[in-house]
Amino acid sequence: MEADIVVDLQYGDSGKGKVTHFLAKSKRYTHVLRYNGGCNAGHTIFHKGKKFVTHHIPAGVFWGIPSVIGPGCVLDPVQFFKEIEELEAGGVRTKGKVFIAKNTHVITEDHKHEDTKDARIGTTKRGNGPAYRDKYARVGVRAEDVPELKPYIVDLYELFHKSKKKVVILGEGAQGFGLDIDWGDYPYVTSSHCTTAGALLNGIPHSAIKKVYGNAKIYETYVGAKKFEPDDAVFEKIREAGEEYGATTGRPRQCNWIDLDLLERGMRINGVTHLILNKVDVLRAVGAWGAIADGKARRFKSEKELKAFIIKRLAKSGVPKSKIIFSESKHKI
Ligand code: IMP
Ligand code: MG
Repeated sequence: MEADIVVDLQYGDSGKGKVTHFLAKSKRYTHVLRYNGGCNAGHTIFHKGKKFVTHHIPAGVFWGIPSVIGPGCVLDPVQFFKEIEELEAGGVRTKGKVFIAKNTHVITEDHKHEDTKDARIGTTKRGNGPAYRDKYARVGVRAEDVPELKPYIVDLYELFHKSKKKVVILGEGAQGFGLDIDWGDYPYVTSSHCTTAGALLNGIPHSAIKKVYGNAKIYETYVGAKKFEPDDAVFEKIREAGEEYGATTGRPRQCNWIDLDLLERGMRINGVTHLILNKVDVLRAVGAWGAIADGKARRFKSEKELKAFIIKRLAKSGVPKSKIIFSESKHKI
């Protein structure tokens, strides 16, 4: 078995959908696995000129690759069936390509109702936190116990470990390192493990891991209750140019410069082998360049200066310069 992992190093919305869709196109992978989170996630994907937003279903489905929702996730059956319908309506065949691990926990109507009352964290109100709470309190419901989900249920041990053919998994994470339940800015976090370690919880042995694609934007965004954006009109411009509005909730995302201290922490803890920095085109459109390093914000005169600074700052991160990729298109890496 082999596995490559796509992991977000910031606060979600760094372009994991785009990167997973792009990597899955290579046909190298036998399975694409969503390894954490629920339908709080919104992955924007451009497929053959059409825009899709997925919440549960991994991006392998666009290429006909078996796409699995793992036990690190929580699943809302209502949202799941809606998504199947949307994909089919958009011309994406899902039949026989989408699977749910039998031990995945379910988001119930009660969970969603409870989450609508949150004001403290600024959640997506999708029932995520209450579903994980009930899982750990051992009072939750598993997908295998929901009759409508029966046609999709698999045992990941059978699927990954008893296959006659070599299994090559692409792991698609949700949310990000800054929102991770353990490593994020608690309590302004989500309720799941958004790290490479979180991917391993889905039946992947550590020895299978090959590449870890650390995913980030060349600036940062965050959605939630805490104040994140500094008072500077430049961030308003970045929000507009970058279309920084939640794919799930439509909320405006707060913006800031890329935090290289956070990025390096995330790269090390996730064992990142390749770093992808998305949306360079957005800063180019705004014509402003900045970064935070050693806790201090600084501005740069040009794109070239910022890129050189990032590469120098990350020299000891364990990722060589040749594996740092600056991306400037919605459609490719
Ligand atoms: P929850 O995951 O809905 O409980 O929300 C907890 C925090 O994570 C809130 O600040 C949300 O805005 C944030 N969050 C959850 N999912 C995503 C996501 O997919 N992208 C960005 N932020 C998210
Ligand atoms: Mg998103």
